[in-house]
Amino acid sequence: MRQVPAYLIIGNGRVARHTACYFDFLGIPYTTWHRGLAEEDLRAKAAAATHILILIRDDAIEDFAQFHLAGFAAVKIHFSGALVVAGVHGAHPLMTFGPDLYTRDKYQSIPFIIEDDAPDFAALLPGLPNAHARIKKSDKAKYHALCAMAGNFSCLLWQKLMQSFADDFALPPEAAQAYLRQQTDNLIADYTSTLTGPLVRGDGATIQKHLAALKGDPFHDVYQSFIAAYGASKEKLK
Ligand SMILES: NC(=O)c1ccc[n+]([C@@H]2O[C@H](COP(=O)([O-])OP(=O)(O)OC[C@H]3O[C@@H](n4cnc5c(N)ncnc54)[C@H](OP(=O)(O)O)[C@@H]3O)[C@@H](O)[C@H]2O)c1
Repeated sequence: MRQVPAYLIIGNGRVARHTACYFDFLGIPYTTWHRGLAEEDLRAKAAAATHILILIRDDAIEDFAQFHLAGFAAVKIHFSGALVVAGVHGAHPLMTFGPDLYTRDKYQSIPFIIEDDAPDFAALLPGLPNAHARIKKSDKAKYHALCAMAGNFSCLLWQKLMQSFADDFALPPEAAQAYLRQQTDNLIADYTSTLTGPLVRGDGATIQKHLAALKGDPFHDVYQSFIAAYGASKEKLK
């Protein structure tokens, strides 16, 4: 008979709360601990656990595992996309986790990117019906840099647009929402053919007009670096 997992979730930040919520949806039992609680409580829960999820900030994970969890036999897992830690398996949920909790379907749609030498997914995260894929540990920093650029940097560009609508043009920021939704839908439908605008048309006059209009704005240099990056990769990014 398959062993019933006993999860311990460490941390009380966003990802710890989302994970606990998903486990509740799935009916997976778990205990929790965060650094506001007593150390003896951690020791008792870690001793009873088969799987310990270390869901705390990246720069604290390695020390935490070494100083608090070294003596315990449980499988240890962190969810950081970039970090490689000896004795702790990395399983990156490829998603952004905000302050609000999600639906069961949304949690179930999240793929986990795990390390090439990790155990079977069913042994690493038993009970989770999610898809998974493996990457080399040596590729994790680049993989995560690309995820962060796509998710976080595009967020900055949309925040800039919406804030400028309100501040510079007295336009409602919501006026950008249909454009954002369609851009996302088009990318999901076919990411290879979704790019429109002056870069893909080779419209140098419009590009120069844009750069002149952005003079003095910190995003002027962002525009310029996109021109350079697109120029160097356009054979791949049609
Ligand atoms: N947020 C995302 O979208 C996302 C997506 C994928 C993966 N992840 C990964 O998920 C993990 C958790 O991220 P998060 O977004 O949940 O972070 P978060 O909301 O900032 O929460 C960080 C947690 O770490 C705890 N912590 C910090 N230093 C600690 C220490 N020295 N010892 C014990 N606990 C400590 C904090 O405790 P206090 O409250 O006491 O400060 C808090 O509970 C990270 O590895 C992150 O890379 C995040």
